[in-house]
Amino acid sequence: MTDFRSDLEAIRRSARERLDVAATAAEVETLRHELLGRSGSLTTLLRSLGSAAPEERPALGKAANEVRVEIEAAIGERLAALSGADLEARLASEAMDMSAPGRPIRVGHLHPIHTLMRDLREIFHAYGFEVFEGPEVETEEYNFELLNIPPDHPARDLWDTLYVAEPDSVEAGASRPADDGTILRTHTSPTQLRAMHALDAPIRVLTPGRCFRYEAVDASHGFEFFQIEGLVVDRDTSLADLKGMLEEVARALYGRDVATRFRPGYYPFTEPSVAFDIGCLVCGGSGCPACHRSGWMTILGAGMVHPNVLRDGGFDPDEYQGYAFGMGMDRMTMLRHGIGDIRLLFTGDLRFVTQFTEGR
Ligand code: DAH
Repeated sequence: MTDFRSDLEAIRRSARERLDVAATAAEVETLRHELLGRSGSLTTLLRSLGSAAPEERPALGKAANEVRVEIEAAIGERLAALSGADLEARLASEAMDMSAPGRPIRVGHLHPIHTLMRDLREIFHAYGFEVFEGPEVETEEYNFELLNIPPDHPARDLWDTLYVAEPDSVEAGASRPADDGTILRTHTSPTQLRAMHALDAPIRVLTPGRCFRYEAVDASHGFEFFQIEGLVVDRDTSLADLKGMLEEVARALYGRDVATRFRPGYYPFTEPSVAFDIGCLVCGGSGCPACHRSGWMTILGAGMVHPNVLRDGGFDPDEYQGYAFGMGMDRMTMLRHGIGDIRLLFTGDLRFVTQFTEGR
């Protein structure tokens, strides 16, 4: 069967030649099918072995098998080479230029309210104040009673309180205030008592924090806002100390030339109580819509700690005095940057927030 041998050699050679030029894995697979598939040329040739002389069959079969093994190996090699080439091609097309300038990464920054709180912390730090934080979820006792505001006191109307409801009653659809008088603090003043209960005199603490009130939201009111509370308890502390301290802070924050004034005020937990104003930053004092034409802007309430509050805090008012103040961070932030609407501070709108990058 010389035909068989020459056919076999022809298949082998042609397979070699075609594999050498196959450019893609798909072409190699087609070739595999044409050679080794069910009706492939080598398969067909093997089938014809049956008509060979019986004594020649083993040698021919062996030769054919060797060619099959050789072709399979060659197919495997070609596929491996092509996948390497595929990779090279992908690497070339997806190449990165390592010398190209990078895309800038967006770096966040502090919120302007936070920046102001940080500045105030620094200013007060220089006068020996330490930060003393209190809980946002408070009790009526700390928020009111211990601050000389008994349950029926009309001054409670000044603070529209959000009560924390009984979980059961919320599920049942009717929310009833929790029996233990749990509320969201309406101001940072309850921390005065928490500080007095935790610390010994002399006390100089600053409490920055979030407060909540049941308010209809408009351009100048939010249902959540930020305050910084200050408390000093010591012997021989007077209103003069309070005035000097606050004037220094106003100058540090708004510049040496800022005008300041104290007005009488009323708070149940201080006696006497004052309101502290600075000259309007918008008009410089001549009167404009921002200051309601008065030339002044109120930035905080303050006063000498009421003897009842000192007593509630465990201090004898005949021995100790103290002063306290509470500033509204939102309003002061608005004054600082000329922001006209308090809601902007809480929307998280990047077009607004990213204008205040000094807190990086
Ligand atoms: N807690 C008061 C408020 O939210 C602000 C305040 C006034 C705080 C006078 C004080 C103070 O410590 O002495 O309206």
